[in-house]
Amino acid sequence: MSQAPRRTVVVLAAGEGKRMKSATPKVLHPLLGRTLLGHVLGAAGAAQASRTVVVVGHRAEQVEAHLAEIQPEATPVLQEQQNGTGHAVRIALDAVPEAEGTVVVLNGDVPLLRPETVASLVAAHEESKASATVLAAQVADPVGLGRVIRDDAGNLRQIVEERDASPEQRAVREVNAGIYAFDVAALRTALGKLSTDNDQGEEYLTDVFGLLAEVGQPVGVFVAADPDETLGCNDRAELAALRALLRDRVNTAWMRSGVSIMDPATTWIDVTARLEPDAVVDQNSQVRGTTTIAAGAVIGPDTTLVDAVVGAGATVLRAHVVGAQVGPEATVGPYSYLRPGTRLARKSKVGGFVETKNAEVGEGAKVPHLSYVGDATIGAQANIGAGTIFANYDGVRKHRTTVGDAAFVGSDTVLIAPVEVGAGAYVAAGSAVAKEVPAGNLGVTRAQQRNVDGWTVRRRAGTVSAEAAERAAAQQPAERHGDADASGDAGR
Ligand code: UD1
Ligand code: CA
Repeated sequence: MSQAPRRTVVVLAAGEGKRMKSATPKVLHPLLGRTLLGHVLGAAGAAQASRTVVVVGHRAEQVEAHLAEIQPEATPVLQEQQNGTGHAVRIALDAVPEAEGTVVVLNGDVPLLRPETVASLVAAHEESKASATVLAAQVADPVGLGRVIRDDAGNLRQIVEERDASPEQRAVREVNAGIYAFDVAALRTALGKLSTDNDQGEEYLTDVFGLLAEVGQPVGVFVAADPDETLGCNDRAELAALRALLRDRVNTAWMRSGVSIMDPATTWIDVTARLEPDAVVDQNSQVRGTTTIAAGAVIGPDTTLVDAVVGAGATVLRAHVVGAQVGPEATVGPYSYLRPGTRLARKSKVGGFVETKNAEVGEGAKVPHLSYVGDATIGAQANIGAGTIFANYDGVRKHRTTVGDAAFVGSDTVLIAPVEVGAGAYVAAGSAVAKEVPAGNLGVTRAQQRNVDGWTVRRRAGTVSAEAAERAAAQQPAERHGDADASGDAGR
Protein backbone atom coordinates (compact mmCIF):
# COMPACT_ATOMS: atom_id res chain seq x y z
CA MET A 1 0.00 0.00 0.00
CA SER A 2 1.38 3.36 -0.98
CA GLN A 3 1.34 6.18 1.51
CA ALA A 4 0.05 9.62 0.63
CA PRO A 5 3.02 11.67 -0.59
CA ARG A 6 4.39 14.09 1.99
CA ARG A 7 5.00 17.06 -0.21
CA THR A 8 4.60 20.81 -0.09
CA VAL A 9 4.54 23.12 -3.07
CA VAL A 10 5.83 26.69 -2.78
CA VAL A 11 5.18 29.10 -5.66
CA LEU A 12 7.12 32.38 -5.67
CA ALA A 13 4.87 35.19 -6.83
CA ALA A 14 5.79 38.24 -4.76
CA GLY A 15 7.90 40.09 -7.29
CA GLU A 16 6.69 43.12 -9.19
CA GLY A 17 8.12 42.16 -12.52
CA LYS A 18 9.53 45.64 -13.13
CA ARG A 19 10.46 44.96 -16.73
CA MET A 20 6.82 44.24 -17.61
CA LYS A 21 6.21 47.99 -17.00
CA SER A 22 2.66 47.20 -15.96
CA ALA A 23 0.08 48.11 -13.33
CA THR A 24 -0.78 44.41 -13.30
CA PRO A 25 1.56 42.17 -11.30
CA LYS A 26 3.59 39.99 -13.64
CA VAL A 27 2.13 36.67 -12.49
CA LEU A 28 -1.40 37.91 -13.31
CA HIS A 29 -0.68 38.59 -16.97
CA PRO A 30 -2.78 36.34 -19.20
CA LEU A 31 -1.42 33.69 -21.52
CA LEU A 32 -3.94 31.75 -23.64
CA GLY A 33 -6.69 31.38 -21.08
CA ARG A 34 -4.79 31.40 -17.80
CA THR A 35 -2.58 33.78 -15.91
CA LEU A 36 1.12 32.98 -15.60
CA LEU A 37 0.39 31.95 -12.02
CA GLY A 38 -2.51 29.77 -13.19
CA HIS A 39 -0.21 27.91 -15.58
CA VAL A 40 2.45 27.35 -12.91
CA LEU A 41 -0.13 26.11 -10.39
CA GLY A 42 -1.50 23.80 -13.08
CA ALA A 43 1.91 22.21 -13.60
CA ALA A 44 2.57 22.12 -9.85
CA GLY A 45 -0.52 19.94 -9.43
CA ALA A 46 1.58 17.02 -10.68
CA ALA A 47 3.57 17.16 -7.43
CA GLN A 48 0.44 15.92 -5.61
CA ALA A 49 1.28 18.05 -2.62
CA SER A 50 -0.81 18.10 0.52
CA ARG A 51 -0.25 21.87 0.83
CA THR A 52 0.39 24.61 -1.68
CA VAL A 53 1.80 27.91 -0.48
CA VAL A 54 1.94 30.95 -2.74
CA VAL A 55 4.28 33.76 -1.69
CA VAL A 56 2.67 37.11 -2.50
CA GLY A 57 3.99 40.63 -2.01
CA HIS A 58 3.73 43.18 -4.78
CA ARG A 59 -0.01 44.03 -5.08
CA ALA A 60 -0.70 41.14 -2.74
CA GLU A 61 -4.48 41.74 -2.52
CA GLN A 62 -4.83 41.42 -6.27
CA VAL A 63 -2.80 38.23 -6.45
CA GLU A 64 -4.62 36.77 -3.42
CA ALA A 65 -8.02 37.55 -4.96
CA HIS A 66 -7.01 35.74 -8.14
CA LEU A 67 -5.65 32.81 -6.16
CA ALA A 68 -8.93 32.53 -4.23
CA GLU A 69 -10.69 32.24 -7.58
CA ILE A 70 -8.49 29.68 -9.28
CA GLN A 71 -7.20 27.63 -6.35
CA PRO A 72 -8.94 28.50 -3.08
CA GLU A 73 -7.27 25.62 -1.24
CA ALA A 74 -3.83 27.18 -1.73
CA THR A 75 -2.44 29.34 1.09
CA PRO A 76 -1.15 32.82 0.31
CA VAL A 77 1.78 33.93 2.47
CA LEU A 78 2.83 37.56 2.55
CA GLN A 79 6.41 38.60 1.87
CA GLU A 80 6.22 42.28 2.65
CA GLN A 81 9.61 43.16 1.25
CA GLN A 82 10.97 41.26 -1.68
CA ASN A 83 14.40 40.48 -0.31
CA GLY A 84 15.05 37.65 -2.74
CA THR A 85 13.93 34.16 -3.65
CA GLY A 86 15.65 32.61 -0.62
CA HIS A 87 13.94 35.04 1.71
CA ALA A 88 10.61 34.23 0.02
CA VAL A 89 11.00 30.48 0.56
CA ARG A 90 12.08 31.03 4.19
CA ILE A 91 8.85 32.96 4.84
CA ALA A 92 6.81 30.28 3.04
CA LEU A 93 8.28 27.50 5.20
CA ASP A 94 7.65 29.50 8.39
CA ALA A 95 3.95 29.26 7.48
CA VAL A 96 4.05 25.45 7.23
CA PRO A 97 5.99 24.20 10.29
CA GLU A 98 4.37 20.77 9.85
CA ALA A 99 5.88 20.28 6.36
CA GLU A 100 7.69 16.97 5.92
CA GLY A 101 9.37 15.18 3.04
CA THR A 102 9.76 17.08 -0.21
CA VAL A 103 9.31 20.79 -0.88
CA VAL A 104 8.83 21.69 -4.54
CA VAL A 105 9.61 25.35 -5.27
CA LEU A 106 8.49 26.99 -8.50
CA ASN A 107 9.07 30.50 -9.80
CA GLY A 108 5.70 32.03 -10.63
CA ASP A 109 6.87 33.25 -14.05
CA VAL A 110 7.69 29.94 -15.79
CA PRO A 111 4.36 29.18 -17.45
CA LEU A 112 5.34 26.63 -20.12
CA LEU A 113 6.41 24.06 -17.55
CA ARG A 114 4.60 20.75 -18.13
CA PRO A 115 3.06 18.72 -15.28
CA GLU A 116 4.98 15.66 -16.53
CA THR A 117 8.24 17.52 -16.01
CA VAL A 118 7.34 18.42 -12.43
CA ALA A 119 6.42 14.78 -11.79
CA SER A 120 9.73 13.57 -13.28
CA LEU A 121 11.77 16.09 -11.30
CA VAL A 122 10.10 15.04 -8.03
CA ALA A 123 10.51 11.33 -8.83
CA ALA A 124 14.20 11.76 -9.74
CA HIS A 125 14.79 13.80 -6.58
CA GLU A 126 13.07 11.35 -4.26
CA GLU A 127 14.65 8.26 -5.86
CA SER A 128 18.15 9.72 -5.66
CA LYS A 129 17.59 10.74 -2.01
CA ALA A 130 19.25 14.06 -2.83
CA SER A 131 18.85 16.94 -0.39
CA ALA A 132 18.18 19.30 -3.28
CA THR A 133 17.58 18.90 -7.03
CA VAL A 134 17.40 21.72 -9.55
CA LEU A 135 15.61 21.61 -12.90
CA ALA A 136 18.13 22.75 -15.48
CA ALA A 137 18.12 23.31 -19.22
CA GLN A 138 20.71 23.55 -21.97
CA VAL A 139 19.98 26.76 -23.82
CA ALA A 140 21.50 28.61 -26.76
CA ASP A 141 21.19 31.98 -25.06
CA PRO A 142 21.70 31.90 -21.29
CA VAL A 143 21.62 35.68 -20.80
CA GLY A 144 20.13 36.82 -17.50
CA LEU A 145 19.81 33.35 -16.01
CA GLY A 146 21.55 31.56 -13.18
CA ARG A 147 24.30 29.19 -14.37
CA VAL A 148 24.62 25.60 -13.17
CA ILE A 149 28.28 25.14 -12.19
CA ARG A 150 29.55 21.56 -12.02
CA ASP A 151 32.91 20.16 -10.88
CA ASP A 152 35.19 18.04 -13.08
CA ALA A 153 33.26 14.92 -12.12
CA GLY A 154 30.06 16.56 -13.32
CA ASN A 155 28.60 17.06 -9.84
CA LEU A 156 26.74 20.26 -9.06
CA ARG A 157 28.88 22.65 -7.06
CA GLN A 158 26.83 25.80 -7.07
CA ILE A 159 24.38 27.99 -8.96
CA VAL A 160 25.71 31.43 -9.82
CA GLU A 161 23.58 34.38 -10.89
CA GLU A 162 24.77 36.02 -14.08
CA ARG A 163 25.56 39.32 -12.38
CA ASP A 164 27.79 37.53 -9.84
CA ALA A 165 29.41 35.17 -12.36
CA SER A 166 33.00 35.17 -13.64
CA PRO A 167 33.49 35.36 -17.43
CA GLU A 168 34.25 31.64 -17.40
CA GLN A 169 31.02 30.87 -15.52
CA ARG A 170 29.03 33.10 -17.86
CA ALA A 171 30.12 30.94 -20.78
CA VAL A 172 28.17 28.01 -19.27
CA ARG A 173 24.94 27.30 -21.14
CA GLU A 174 23.34 25.06 -18.59
CA VAL A 175 20.92 27.25 -16.70
CA ASN A 176 18.68 27.14 -13.65
CA ALA A 177 14.99 26.98 -14.67
CA GLY A 178 13.79 28.24 -11.29
CA ILE A 179 12.09 24.94 -10.37
CA TYR A 180 13.46 22.81 -7.55
CA ALA A 181 12.80 19.87 -5.24
CA PHE A 182 14.26 19.92 -1.71
CA ASP A 183 14.35 17.79 1.37
CA VAL A 184 12.58 20.08 3.80
CA ALA A 185 15.00 19.62 6.72
CA ALA A 186 18.08 20.28 4.57
CA LEU A 187 16.35 23.28 3.01
CA ARG A 188 15.44 24.84 6.37
CA THR A 189 19.00 24.47 7.61
CA ALA A 190 20.54 25.98 4.48
CA LEU A 191 18.04 28.85 4.33
CA GLY A 192 19.17 29.83 7.82
CA LYS A 193 22.69 30.33 6.49
CA LEU A 194 21.92 32.48 3.44
CA SER A 195 23.80 35.73 3.13
CA THR A 196 23.01 38.84 1.12
CA ASP A 197 26.58 39.12 -0.03
CA ASN A 198 25.86 39.43 -3.74
CA ASP A 199 25.36 42.04 -6.43
CA GLN A 200 21.66 42.57 -5.59
CA GLY A 201 22.03 42.34 -1.79
CA GLU A 202 19.27 39.70 -1.74
CA GLU A 203 18.92 36.25 -0.19
CA TYR A 204 19.23 33.91 -3.16
CA LEU A 205 17.47 30.56 -3.03
CA THR A 206 20.07 29.36 -5.51
CA ASP A 207 22.82 29.71 -2.86
CA VAL A 208 21.23 26.78 -1.00
CA PHE A 209 22.83 24.46 -3.56
CA GLY A 210 26.37 25.70 -2.92
CA LEU A 211 25.83 25.60 0.85
CA LEU A 212 24.59 22.00 0.76
CA ALA A 213 27.31 20.85 -1.67
CA GLU A 214 29.99 22.43 0.53
CA VAL A 215 29.05 20.30 3.52
CA GLY A 216 28.89 17.15 1.43
CA GLN A 217 25.11 16.85 1.11
CA PRO A 218 23.98 15.19 -2.13
CA VAL A 219 22.62 17.72 -4.61
CA GLY A 220 21.34 16.85 -8.07
CA VAL A 221 20.56 18.33 -11.45
CA PHE A 222 17.57 17.19 -13.50
CA VAL A 223 17.89 18.35 -17.09
CA ALA A 224 14.62 19.21 -18.86
CA ALA A 225 14.15 17.43 -22.17
CA ASP A 226 12.48 20.49 -23.71
CA PRO A 227 14.31 23.71 -22.78
CA ASP A 228 11.29 25.80 -23.88
CA GLU A 229 9.48 24.61 -20.77
CA THR A 230 11.93 26.42 -18.57
CA LEU A 231 11.60 29.84 -20.21
CA GLY A 232 10.78 32.63 -17.81
CA CYS A 233 8.79 35.75 -18.57
CA ASN A 234 10.40 39.05 -17.71
CA ASP A 235 9.03 41.54 -20.26
CA ARG A 236 6.25 41.82 -22.85
CA ALA A 237 8.46 40.60 -25.68
CA GLU A 238 9.22 37.42 -23.76
CA LEU A 239 5.51 37.06 -22.96
CA ALA A 240 4.67 37.25 -26.68
CA ALA A 241 7.36 34.67 -27.46
CA LEU A 242 5.94 32.34 -24.79
CA ARG A 243 2.45 32.86 -26.20
CA ALA A 244 3.58 31.78 -29.67
CA LEU A 245 5.30 28.69 -28.25
CA LEU A 246 2.22 27.75 -26.22
CA ARG A 247 -0.03 28.35 -29.25
CA ASP A 248 2.04 25.87 -31.25
CA ARG A 249 2.02 23.35 -28.43
CA VAL A 250 -1.77 23.58 -28.00
CA ASN A 251 -2.48 23.49 -31.74
CA THR A 252 -0.22 20.50 -32.27
CA ALA A 253 -1.97 18.58 -29.50
CA TRP A 254 -5.42 19.28 -31.01
CA MET A 255 -4.26 18.36 -34.51
CA ARG A 256 -2.84 15.09 -33.18
CA SER A 257 -6.24 14.42 -31.59
CA GLY A 258 -8.03 14.84 -34.92
CA VAL A 259 -8.87 18.54 -35.18
CA SER A 260 -8.09 20.28 -38.50
CA ILE A 261 -6.34 23.60 -38.02
CA MET A 262 -5.92 25.23 -41.41
CA ASP A 263 -3.37 27.86 -40.38
CA PRO A 264 -1.78 27.08 -37.01
CA ALA A 265 0.24 30.31 -37.05
CA THR A 266 -2.94 32.44 -36.88
CA THR A 267 -5.06 30.18 -34.68
CA TRP A 268 -5.06 30.89 -30.95
CA ILE A 269 -6.75 28.32 -28.74
CA ASP A 270 -6.89 28.87 -24.99
CA VAL A 271 -5.71 25.95 -22.87
CA THR A 272 -9.20 25.89 -21.33
CA ALA A 273 -11.07 25.24 -24.61
CA ARG A 274 -12.15 21.79 -25.83
CA LEU A 275 -12.48 20.54 -29.40
CA GLU A 276 -13.73 17.22 -30.76
CA PRO A 277 -12.09 15.26 -33.56
CA ASP A 278 -13.09 16.44 -37.04
CA ALA A 279 -13.76 19.95 -35.88
CA VAL A 280 -12.21 22.41 -38.36
CA VAL A 281 -10.70 25.76 -37.38
CA ASP A 282 -9.88 28.03 -40.30
CA GLN A 283 -7.31 30.82 -40.26
CA ASN A 284 -7.30 33.91 -38.06
CA SER A 285 -9.50 32.46 -35.38
CA GLN A 286 -9.45 32.60 -31.59
CA VAL A 287 -11.04 29.92 -29.44
CA ARG A 288 -11.17 31.33 -25.96
CA GLY A 289 -12.29 30.59 -22.40
CA THR A 290 -14.54 27.60 -21.83
CA THR A 291 -15.49 27.26 -25.51
CA THR A 292 -16.32 23.77 -26.74
CA ILE A 293 -16.49 22.82 -30.43
CA ALA A 294 -18.17 19.56 -31.40
CA ALA A 295 -17.24 17.14 -34.15
CA GLY A 296 -17.60 18.34 -37.72
CA ALA A 297 -18.17 21.98 -36.83
CA VAL A 298 -16.36 24.49 -39.05
CA ILE A 299 -15.10 27.68 -37.40
CA GLY A 300 -13.64 30.67 -39.23
CA PRO A 301 -11.88 32.13 -41.01
CA ASP A 302 -11.73 35.31 -38.91
CA THR A 303 -13.86 34.09 -36.01
CA THR A 304 -13.58 34.70 -32.28
CA LEU A 305 -15.37 32.38 -29.86
CA VAL A 306 -15.41 33.27 -26.17
CA ASP A 307 -17.10 30.88 -23.70
CA ALA A 308 -19.18 29.53 -26.59
CA VAL A 309 -20.73 26.13 -27.23
CA VAL A 310 -20.70 25.03 -30.86
CA GLY A 311 -22.66 21.91 -31.78
CA ALA A 312 -21.75 19.13 -34.18
CA GLY A 313 -21.69 20.11 -37.82
CA ALA A 314 -22.34 23.80 -37.17
CA THR A 315 -20.70 26.52 -39.27
CA VAL A 316 -19.50 29.83 -37.81
CA LEU A 317 -17.99 32.11 -40.44
CA ARG A 318 -16.38 35.52 -39.71
CA ALA A 319 -18.25 36.00 -36.47
CA HIS A 320 -17.70 37.26 -32.92
CA VAL A 321 -19.41 34.95 -30.45
CA VAL A 322 -19.49 35.55 -26.70
CA GLY A 323 -21.34 33.36 -24.20
CA ALA A 324 -23.60 31.91 -26.89
CA GLN A 325 -24.70 28.41 -27.90
CA VAL A 326 -24.75 27.43 -31.55
CA GLY A 327 -26.76 24.26 -32.03
CA PRO A 328 -25.85 21.27 -34.17
CA GLU A 329 -25.81 22.05 -37.90
CA ALA A 330 -26.72 25.68 -37.27
CA THR A 331 -25.03 28.30 -39.45
CA VAL A 332 -23.74 31.71 -38.40
CA GLY A 333 -22.27 34.61 -40.35
CA PRO A 334 -20.53 36.10 -42.13
CA TYR A 335 -20.08 39.26 -40.02
CA SER A 336 -22.36 38.43 -37.12
CA TYR A 337 -22.15 39.20 -33.41
CA LEU A 338 -23.69 36.68 -31.02
CA ARG A 339 -23.83 37.98 -27.47
CA PRO A 340 -24.45 36.26 -24.12
CA GLY A 341 -27.70 34.35 -23.77
CA THR A 342 -28.01 33.55 -27.46
CA ARG A 343 -29.17 29.97 -28.09
CA LEU A 344 -29.46 28.80 -31.65
CA ALA A 345 -31.30 25.48 -31.98
CA ARG A 346 -30.44 22.72 -34.42
CA LYS A 347 -30.28 23.73 -38.09
CA SER A 348 -31.18 27.33 -37.38
CA LYS A 349 -29.52 30.17 -39.26
CA VAL A 350 -28.18 33.55 -38.26
CA GLY A 351 -26.85 35.13 -41.43
CA GLY A 352 -24.85 38.20 -42.39
CA PHE A 353 -24.69 41.36 -40.26
CA VAL A 354 -26.95 40.07 -37.50
CA GLU A 355 -26.55 40.86 -33.79
CA THR A 356 -28.27 38.72 -31.16
CA LYS A 357 -28.50 38.92 -27.36
CA ASN A 358 -30.60 36.82 -24.93
CA ALA A 359 -32.23 35.32 -27.96
CA GLU A 360 -33.51 31.82 -28.57
CA VAL A 361 -33.79 30.88 -32.21
CA GLY A 362 -35.84 27.72 -32.72
CA GLU A 363 -35.00 24.64 -34.72
CA GLY A 364 -34.70 25.43 -38.43
CA ALA A 365 -35.62 29.08 -37.88
CA LYS A 366 -33.83 31.76 -39.92
CA VAL A 367 -32.62 35.29 -39.31
CA PRO A 368 -30.73 35.60 -42.56
CA HIS A 369 -29.84 39.28 -43.02
CA LEU A 370 -29.09 42.57 -41.24
CA SER A 371 -31.10 42.19 -38.02
CA TYR A 372 -30.92 42.93 -34.32
CA VAL A 373 -32.51 40.22 -32.17
CA GLY A 374 -32.48 41.18 -28.48
CA ASP A 375 -34.48 39.50 -25.68
CA ALA A 376 -36.44 37.29 -28.04
CA THR A 377 -37.83 33.82 -28.47
CA ILE A 378 -38.24 32.73 -32.07
CA GLY A 379 -40.14 29.51 -32.76
CA ALA A 380 -39.09 26.59 -34.91
CA GLN A 381 -39.15 27.15 -38.69
CA ALA A 382 -39.93 30.87 -38.31
CA ASN A 383 -38.44 33.26 -40.87
CA ILE A 384 -37.34 36.74 -39.90
CA GLY A 385 -37.05 39.01 -42.94
CA ALA A 386 -34.05 41.14 -43.84
CA GLY A 387 -33.53 44.19 -41.67
CA THR A 388 -35.95 43.19 -38.91
CA ILE A 389 -35.26 44.89 -35.58
CA PHE A 390 -36.41 43.52 -32.24
CA ALA A 391 -36.80 46.80 -30.35
CA ASN A 392 -36.29 45.51 -26.81
CA TYR A 393 -35.45 48.71 -24.95
CA ASP A 394 -37.95 51.44 -24.11
CA GLY A 395 -35.27 53.71 -22.69
CA VAL A 396 -35.78 52.42 -19.17
CA ARG A 397 -36.36 48.68 -19.28
CA LYS A 398 -35.74 45.72 -21.58
CA HIS A 399 -38.73 43.68 -22.75
CA ARG A 400 -39.15 40.37 -24.50
CA THR A 401 -40.59 39.49 -27.90
CA THR A 402 -42.00 36.12 -28.86
CA VAL A 403 -42.38 34.91 -32.43
CA GLY A 404 -44.29 31.64 -32.79
CA ASP A 405 -43.41 28.53 -34.76
CA ALA A 406 -43.29 28.96 -38.53
CA ALA A 407 -44.28 32.61 -38.33
CA PHE A 408 -43.11 34.84 -41.21
CA VAL A 409 -41.92 38.33 -40.42
CA GLY A 410 -41.54 40.49 -43.53
CA SER A 411 -38.44 42.55 -44.24
CA ASP A 412 -37.76 45.83 -42.47
CA THR A 413 -40.15 45.14 -39.63
CA VAL A 414 -39.70 46.56 -36.17
CA LEU A 415 -41.12 44.39 -33.39
CA ILE A 416 -41.66 46.69 -30.41
CA ALA A 417 -41.36 44.68 -27.20
CA PRO A 418 -43.18 43.41 -25.26
CA VAL A 419 -45.04 41.90 -28.17
CA GLU A 420 -46.03 38.55 -29.57
CA VAL A 421 -46.41 37.21 -33.09
CA GLY A 422 -48.37 33.96 -33.00
CA ALA A 423 -47.60 30.63 -34.62
CA GLY A 424 -47.99 30.69 -38.38
CA ALA A 425 -48.75 34.43 -38.39
CA TYR A 426 -47.43 36.76 -41.08
CA VAL A 427 -46.23 40.32 -40.63
CA ALA A 428 -46.19 42.48 -43.74
CA ALA A 429 -42.85 43.98 -44.76
CA GLY A 430 -42.14 47.42 -43.34
CA SER A 431 -44.50 47.11 -40.38
CA ALA A 432 -43.97 48.53 -36.90
CA VAL A 433 -45.62 45.95 -34.65
CA ALA A 434 -46.53 46.96 -31.10
CA LYS A 435 -49.67 44.84 -30.67
CA GLU A 436 -50.07 41.08 -30.72
CA VAL A 437 -50.47 39.42 -34.12
CA PRO A 438 -52.52 36.35 -33.21
CA ALA A 439 -51.65 32.93 -34.60
CA GLY A 440 -52.50 32.58 -38.27
CA ASN A 441 -53.25 36.30 -38.74
CA LEU A 442 -51.58 38.76 -41.10
CA GLY A 443 -50.40 41.89 -39.29
CA VAL A 444 -49.96 45.02 -41.40
CA THR A 445 -49.20 48.46 -40.03
CA ARG A 446 -48.28 50.24 -43.26
CA ALA A 447 -50.20 53.22 -44.68
CA GLN A 448 -51.84 52.67 -48.07
CA GLN A 449 -49.55 53.59 -50.96
CA ARG A 450 -50.60 56.66 -52.99
CA ASN A 451 -48.97 57.56 -56.35
CA VAL A 452 -48.92 61.20 -57.46
CA ASP A 453 -49.11 61.12 -61.25
CA GLY A 454 -46.49 63.14 -63.17
CA TRP A 455 -44.87 64.50 -59.98
CA THR A 456 -41.20 64.21 -61.03
CA VAL A 457 -41.61 66.01 -64.33
CA ARG A 458 -43.58 68.84 -62.67
CA ARG A 459 -41.66 69.27 -59.43
CA ARG A 460 -38.12 68.19 -60.42
CA ALA A 461 -37.95 69.62 -63.90
CA GLY A 462 -34.47 69.68 -65.41
CA THR A 463 -33.11 66.83 -63.27
CA VAL A 464 -31.85 63.54 -64.67
CA SER A 465 -34.81 61.93 -62.91
CA ALA A 466 -37.26 64.14 -64.79
CA GLU A 467 -35.49 63.36 -68.07
CA ALA A 468 -35.68 59.62 -67.36
CA ALA A 469 -39.36 59.96 -66.48
CA GLU A 470 -40.02 61.78 -69.76
CA ARG A 471 -38.22 59.12 -71.76
CA ALA A 472 -40.20 56.42 -70.00
CA ALA A 473 -43.46 58.25 -70.72
CA ALA A 474 -42.54 58.61 -74.41
CA GLN A 475 -41.74 54.90 -74.77
CA GLN A 476 -44.59 53.44 -72.77
CA PRO A 477 -47.38 56.00 -72.60
CA ALA A 478 -50.11 53.44 -71.98
CA GLU A 479 -48.35 51.68 -69.13
CA ARG A 480 -47.37 54.61 -67.00
CA HIS A 481 -49.83 53.80 -64.23
CA GLY A 482 -49.93 50.11 -65.07
CA ASP A 483 -49.68 47.43 -62.37
CA ALA A 484 -46.55 45.37 -61.78
CA ASP A 485 -47.61 42.45 -63.94
CA ALA A 486 -48.21 44.58 -67.00
CA SER A 487 -45.05 46.66 -66.73
CA GLY A 488 -42.96 43.61 -65.96
CA ASP A 489 -43.60 42.26 -69.44
CA ALA A 490 -43.23 45.55 -71.24
CA GLY A 491 -40.64 45.74 -73.99
CA ARG A 492 -39.99 42.00 -74.07
C1 UD1 B 1 15.76 33.34 -10.86
C2 UD1 B 1 16.97 32.56 -10.37
C3 UD1 B 1 17.85 32.23 -11.56
C4 UD1 B 1 17.06 31.46 -12.59
C5 UD1 B 1 15.79 32.21 -12.97
C6 UD1 B 1 14.92 31.34 -13.83
C7 UD1 B 1 17.41 33.32 -8.10
C8 UD1 B 1 18.31 34.13 -7.24
N1 UD1 B 1 17.70 33.32 -9.39
O1 UD1 B 1 16.23 34.57 -11.37
O2 UD1 B 1 18.96 31.47 -11.15
O3 UD1 B 1 17.86 31.19 -13.73
O4 UD1 B 1 15.04 32.58 -11.82
O5 UD1 B 1 13.85 32.05 -14.36
O6 UD1 B 1 16.51 32.70 -7.60
N2 UD1 B 1 10.21 36.42 -6.06
C9 UD1 B 1 9.59 36.52 -4.84
N3 UD1 B 1 10.18 37.23 -3.84
C10 UD1 B 1 11.36 37.84 -4.00
C11 UD1 B 1 12.02 37.73 -5.25
C12 UD1 B 1 11.41 37.01 -6.26
O7 UD1 B 1 8.49 35.99 -4.65
O8 UD1 B 1 11.84 38.46 -3.05
C13 UD1 B 1 9.56 35.66 -7.13
C14 UD1 B 1 9.27 36.47 -8.37
O9 UD1 B 1 7.94 37.01 -8.29
C15 UD1 B 1 9.37 35.44 -9.48
C16 UD1 B 1 10.39 34.44 -8.95
O10 UD1 B 1 10.46 34.65 -7.55
O11 UD1 B 1 8.15 34.77 -9.73
C17 UD1 B 1 11.75 34.62 -9.58
O12 UD1 B 1 12.21 35.93 -9.31
P1 UD1 B 1 12.98 36.76 -10.40
O13 UD1 B 1 13.34 38.07 -9.81
O14 UD1 B 1 12.24 36.76 -11.68
O15 UD1 B 1 14.32 35.88 -10.53
P2 UD1 B 1 15.32 35.84 -11.75
O16 UD1 B 1 16.18 37.04 -11.69
O17 UD1 B 1 14.58 35.57 -12.98
CA1 CA C 1 12.49 35.58 -13.67
